[in-house]
Amino acid sequence: MGSDVGRRARIAVLPGDGIGPEVTAAAVTVLKAVAARFGHDFVLTEWPIGAFAMRTAKSPLPEDTLAACKDADAVLLGAVGDPSFDAAPRDQRPEAGLLGLRKALGAYANIRPARIYKGLEGAGPLKSEVARGLDLVVVRELTGGLYFGSPRSLDLAAGTAVNTLPYSRPEVTRIADVAFRLARGRRRKVTSVDKSNVLETSQLWRAVVIEVGANFPDVALDHQLVDSCAMNLVLCPAAFDVVVTENLFGDILSDEVGALVGSLGLLPSASLGDGPGLFEPVHGSAPALAGRDVANPIGAIATAAMLLEDGLGLPDEAGAVRAAIETVLEKGARTADLAPRGAKVLGTREMARAISELIPVRVSV
Ligand code: IPM
Ligand code: MN
Repeated sequence: MGSDVGRRARIAVLPGDGIGPEVTAAAVTVLKAVAARFGHDFVLTEWPIGAFAMRTAKSPLPEDTLAACKDADAVLLGAVGDPSFDAAPRDQRPEAGLLGLRKALGAYANIRPARIYKGLEGAGPLKSEVARGLDLVVVRELTGGLYFGSPRSLDLAAGTAVNTLPYSRPEVTRIADVAFRLARGRRRKVTSVDKSNVLETSQLWRAVVIEVGANFPDVALDHQLVDSCAMNLVLCPAAFDVVVTENLFGDILSDEVGALVGSLGLLPSASLGDGPGLFEPVHGSAPALAGRDVANPIGAIATAAMLLEDGLGLPDEAGAVRAAIETVLEKGARTADLAPRGAKVLGTREMARAISELIPVRVSV
């Protein structure tokens, strides 16, 4: 076993809004089981973000929260977003908290792995024979593009608005590098997604990805326009290995992938870069599901697995969590999003308990 024995780690937990607190509690249940059974000491502290922080601290990203995140070994986030802030100025919206946190941590590489779990081949909208073999990673650039570009403005009275899509060579180089390195540990195929038939930014993107690709002659590179990629993901998802793309395209395509695997509630992500890693499920705050113990916690629990592996360097522990998820699903445990009509449904807490009970005690060697 490669992991340290008795690792001490500080994990900042940011439950956020909607179903965020419930799925985060589920992930924490599993992290505590890992700590107990592998003999680690995880110090978990909770901090406000998003709408919850707007209500309690009048800022979507309070200073204390940011300081705790910078100081932590890893950050676990639930979700942000609350319709009651829909009309708020942009810097007072819950989302501003998350975007500010990603930027402040320099978390430019958002890694969103997706595959079809055994037993869920028919859970999504695809025919099982098309879904089978879907095993891909979306590498989404996370701190640039339209989300952060200026100038930006909104003049509702005048009926005009502006957003800007900037990218620079270093920004594209570093994210492309992440994608090619990741592909080396997988099926050695990178698909770069852009809109270079229309956008200058995409022309730069494509040129730089090709330059970076020259350093990875062992990895196959192809390019797809984002519209065509959206279609190909439905037609032949198994053909994709690593998909690298800019911030907004990555946001959109990863929700599509969530549908393809059966539920957006299954997908984890890691946002990596200069500071401590930020680990966040791909799904949002899902206000309609909040507080009812119905949300699927598997995305958040798989996110905890990424935190263990990429944030704390504990791959064996991450493997144990992933194996536990696979086992409960193989045994037929289903939350409401995955259950066929009439089937038995587990609540968020029951699913978390079922998964944490399957985390084995570390076998000493
Ligand atoms: C995501 C979310 C966020 C994003 C929102 C909540 C700002 O949709 O992580 O995919 O757009 O990045
Ligand atoms: Mn999204």
